[in-house]
Amino acid sequence: MLHGKRILLIVSGGIAAYKSLELVRRLRERGAAVRCVLTRGGAQFVTPLSLSALSEDKVYTDLFSLTDEAEMGHIQLSRDADLLVVAPATADILAKMTQGLADDLASTVFLATDKDVMAVPAMNVRMWEHPATQANLQTLQSRGVHIVGPNEGDMACGEYGLGRMAEPEEIADAITDFFQASAPLSGRRALVTSGPTHEPIDPVRYIANRSSGRQGHAIASALARRGAATTLVSGPTNLPDPAGVNVIHVESARDMLAACEKSLPADIAVCAAAVADWRVAQAADEKLKKNGGGPPTLEMAENPDILATLAAAANTRPRLVVGFAAETEQVVAHAQAKRERKGCDWILANDVSPETGTFGGEDNTVHLVTADGVENWPRMSKSDVAERLAERAAIALETPE
Ligand code: CTP
Repeated sequence: MLHGKRILLIVSGGIAAYKSLELVRRLRERGAAVRCVLTRGGAQFVTPLSLSALSEDKVYTDLFSLTDEAEMGHIQLSRDADLLVVAPATADILAKMTQGLADDLASTVFLATDKDVMAVPAMNVRMWEHPATQANLQTLQSRGVHIVGPNEGDMACGEYGLGRMAEPEEIADAITDFFQASAPLSGRRALVTSGPTHEPIDPVRYIANRSSGRQGHAIASALARRGAATTLVSGPTNLPDPAGVNVIHVESARDMLAACEKSLPADIAVCAAAVADWRVAQAADEKLKKNGGGPPTLEMAENPDILATLAAAANTRPRLVVGFAAETEQVVAHAQAKRERKGCDWILANDVSPETGTFGGEDNTVHLVTADGVENWPRMSKSDVAERLAERAAIALETPE
């Protein structure tokens, strides 16, 4: 359930720290890798040795330790994690996190991270109810920190009330839910086409177009980050392969179709490639020479329509097939007709008239055309279009068939 996930667990100083040992075990049982940072206060309650034995990793304690910093700087500690968990989170560390103090390793790691953070408060009921703590919590939550617990019950100090740290199993469940929510497409397979195609005229010449591949690559990346096992079939572009995506490089439309068919089955297919509609019927085996006979006449043949082919596949049709429509006028009307003609579920229609700068540019203005109607999206970057599409796709795939 947590296979491949890396959790950086910050253990601060409270009696509940003993439960963090159990938490490390539970997280490891679920497949996560756990690395621990132990504050000076935390070390009064659990030893680095027990945390290290359970996490099977070194435990980091000191901001100014030469060996710690040399092996793994505090920035790297958070870079290497998918989620930071502060458990127990004392009133003191919550206050530090709110204020942005950075006077020890734990608070410095928190301030330096760009990863999600989950805090699991544990403290005496009066400390929990104190307006200062409550204000800190509100601030942290408004900044996106996830809070788990606390629970109500008997306290180590003899009082009764809210402030007991959530149980290890509850925390492990909250962490699992967090990853599931951030990877709504896990277990799904996605196929994306991107870039132009090159259609050979002879061994050195080809017909191409100005597609940059930015939109398709961004979509593959957005789907992969949501957990989909993603294959990107790309024509020639100047873009690096997106991280975490299986990329198949192709040149011609026919190669692109063959690579797509090989990559099936898929739950979702997004055809963002600017596939050449025509190829030279008989590409010459040798370089065409001038020979004084005037310009050659190139006989053209129609390329396969990859989007239409995927949408019509009898047994392997992806559940959600998405195409693009590049139009220069009557954008939505043409896209609606194209959606029906090609048999796909959604069309993202964009205006590519030269004054929009869309083709080859950074931004896009799209309209999402579905069987239910049209949604006009505001002008946004191609990566934001990709994020929004991936989010929508995740929701669509959640609903039963
Ligand atoms: N497409 C495809 N294979 C092709 C041609 C297009 O997969 N041989 C896909 C594109 O990736 C895009 C959609 O079809 O998702 C629309 O392509 P577009 O070029 O806008 O439409 P055309 O089919 O070429 O129609 P027209 O030229 O009439 O606008």
